[in-house]
Amino acid sequence: MSRRPPLALRPADALCLPVLAHLHARCFADAWPEGVIGRLLALPGAFAWLAAWGAEPVGFALAHVTVDEAEIWSIGVAPDWRGRGIAGALLRATLERAGSAGAASLVLEVDEANAAALALYRRHGFRPVGRREGYYRRAGSTAAALVLRHDCSPPAAAGG
Ligand SMILES: CC(C)(COP(=O)(O)OP(=O)(O)OC[C@H]1O[C@@H](n2cnc3c(N)ncnc32)[C@H](O)[C@@H]1OP(=O)(O)O)[C@@H](O)C(=O)NCCC(=O)NCCS
Repeated sequence: MSRRPPLALRPADALCLPVLAHLHARCFADAWPEGVIGRLLALPGAFAWLAAWGAEPVGFALAHVTVDEAEIWSIGVAPDWRGRGIAGALLRATLERAGSAGAASLVLEVDEANAAALALYRRHGFRPVGRREGYYRRAGSTAAALVLRHDCSPPAAAGG
């Protein structure tokens, strides 16, 4: 008998802001405060997923859809929980939600030195469509971003 891993993804709303901000701070040096995430989530077309392993919040994805294109603003998995396919599950859910909302494609920017994220996106079929020089600012230097894109499935036709 197989036991499914206790990973659950649920749409995140304003009540999840403290958890989203906590996870973001564990994943990124330039942590986004609750207020910033809240303002993003309040924008038209914005949505977020919260991943929990059992009762433990372990990952998130923040994205938005504008007309026919969706964009991932941020995605992260808490350090102790990486390498279990959690980001992959978040990506699949985000692609599905974006497609259901009418987006033809999903784009994101990634630091070209972020090997773990690049491996993840490649494995999930994202392809490079651009490069932004000096996109990320660090103390005393900048880093380029790669722009990656993935097609979204069209919304399922209504039954009948
Ligand atoms: C990138 C990130 C979201 C991946 O989360 P995750 O839950 O570990 O991802 P998954 O388990 O779904 O997949 C991880 C894959 O990356 C690979 N990987 C992990 N670290 C790696 C590294 N340093 N170099 C190359 N590949 C790496 C793993 O081998 C795994 O691939 P596999 O399943 O083929 O073995 C996570 O590392 C993270 O939160 N990083 C900090 C925030 C960040 O960089 N976000 C992305 C910004 S664009």
